[in-house]
Amino acid sequence: MIVFLLFLSLFSTSWAKEPRSVTMIEEDMSPPEGYDDVYAKNARNVFVTWMSMPLDHFDHQNPTMFSMRYMFNEEFFGGDGYPIFILAGGEWSIQAGWLLAGNMYEMARENKGFQVYTEHRYYGATQIFSNFTAENLRFLNIDQALADLAYFITEIKKQPRFAESEVIMYGGSYAANMVMWFKKRYPHLVLGTVASSGPILAKVDFPEYLEVVHEAFTLEGGEECIGHIRRGLDDTLAAMQTESGRRLLERSYRLCQPLDYDNEYALAVFSGLISWTFSTSVQQARPGTLQSVCKNFTDHTSFGATPMEKIGGYIAITRGLGANSCWSSSYDNFLNNYQNATNSRAWYYQTCTEYGYYQTAPSSGTVFDGLKWLSLDFYTDVCKKIFDERFDLAFVEDGARRVNLIFGGLEPVVNNTINIHGYIDPWRALGVYKDDISETSPTYTVNRASHCFDMQGWLRTDTIEMTAVQQRARRTVTSWLSKAKAGTS
Ligand SMILES: *[C@@H]1O[C@H](CO)[C@@H](O)[C@H](O)[C@H]1NC(C)=O
Ligand SMILES: *[C@@H]1O[C@H](CO)[C@@H](O)[C@H](O)[C@H]1NC(C)=O
Ligand SMILES: *[C@@H]1O[C@H](CO)[C@@H](O)[C@H](O)[C@H]1NC(C)=O
Ligand SMILES: *[C@@H]1O[C@H](CO)[C@@H](O)[C@H](O)[C@H]1NC(C)=O
Repeated sequence: MIVFLLFLSLFSTSWAKEPRSVTMIEEDMSPPEGYDDVYAKNARNVFVTWMSMPLDHFDHQNPTMFSMRYMFNEEFFGGDGYPIFILAGGEWSIQAGWLLAGNMYEMARENKGFQVYTEHRYYGATQIFSNFTAENLRFLNIDQALADLAYFITEIKKQPRFAESEVIMYGGSYAANMVMWFKKRYPHLVLGTVASSGPILAKVDFPEYLEVVHEAFTLEGGEECIGHIRRGLDDTLAAMQTESGRRLLERSYRLCQPLDYDNEYALAVFSGLISWTFSTSVQQARPGTLQSVCKNFTDHTSFGATPMEKIGGYIAITRGLGANSCWSSSYDNFLNNYQNATNSRAWYYQTCTEYGYYQTAPSSGTVFDGLKWLSLDFYTDVCKKIFDERFDLAFVEDGARRVNLIFGGLEPVVNNTINIHGYIDPWRALGVYKDDISETSPTYTVNRASHCFDMQGWLRTDTIEMTAVQQRARRTVTSWLSKAKAGTS
């Protein structure tokens, strides 16, 4: 009887569980933290509007137009001739909070600037087609996106109050590439740019990403923390070898069904469940974040009891897996995430056609080396499956080569660009983080800082070095503006 009841309860709980599919890490461009009161109070300062733009800037005979969404805030605007600050949107939906707090907001305040936040074509509400077939996505590329910004500036400057205004652009992550490359391509339209965490080298095979994740955990959490993670991942790989181990693995990671151990791509999705979670922690880290994660790895209750349970528990807590949910780690389910016309699908398309950026397993002694299913074959198979059979590795490599040919890779040759990186940001491995770009384009790489830290508003946990670099960027922008003013008067 007891056995029967136990069976019944096990059966009914597993039956009731809701499957959640595994997703890749995505850019978190939620507005600066800790300003909720400010947002509530000042939200009415931000206006949302649209500008009509050519679909194809490079075919003058194509008359098709689309509407680009943008937001603006003129609370600090000093009037005729005062500067315009443009925050360039990247692969996300724009949000008003970015015009109410953060470092560009401070720049606008200090220089009586007019603030704008532009949305990238194919993202958020800036849509052109009802679906994202490869055919419809062919107007999604860096050349069109930069031309959108050029068209935008030219149009907005038709307003007499902006006729004499200088333009400053700020961008983070992929949008940092955009602003830096915009300054190269359209130097007559922009005085200077701030590029936060720009991975300006297009690189298909990107094992350096997980190497920096490993380094970040080592630097912030110490050898003990890395040791716990290593044991958990070693045990996971060992568990895959036996039937009883497999059942233990599935329970520790809260998988809905047994993994398909014969399917390389299913194992890649499972590996991604692990690596993309560690990536999220590092990419969004502020000082103290990784220490708290590590504290949970070193005690015996927070994440789990055994090393493998700790990894599973860490993933569930970090990704907010509800008590009644489980991970569905099949490859088909993973591919399903990309079927609809979403920001994720648009960005995956850009990786297949322009950047790669595939976070493959390293082979340099990191804790992630064993996740060898995170391969180029896996990432490019996704390109083929969700877009077009033609999008194979050679195609993806060609796309990345084209971007580096046009923009110069790690030698961008550009003036008036402040190039900022965080040392524990995995993306800095594809940026210029050791040297200045030129005499007028300084590089600041800040210890303990992660992705796009400088765009944020001030947080109590910030280090003095972080705050100092934010201030230096503001002072540099102000000096560009006053030099420009002196030059024209
Ligand atoms: C996608 O949209 C195009 C029009 O842009 C339409 O012709 C086509 O049938 C749509 N395809 C699918 C699969 O919905
Ligand atoms: C640490 O573990 C506790 C208890 O499980 C959890 O509530 C908390 O969110 C964890 N913190 C981090 C940073 O993972
Ligand atoms: C895709 O769209 C359909 C219809 O709107 C919806 O039912 C489904 O949940 C969506 N899938 C994903 C992965 O968002
Ligand atoms: C950058 O500025 C320097 C000094 O004014 C100038 O010599 C150089 O041509 C500029 N380079 C570019 C790419 O504009």
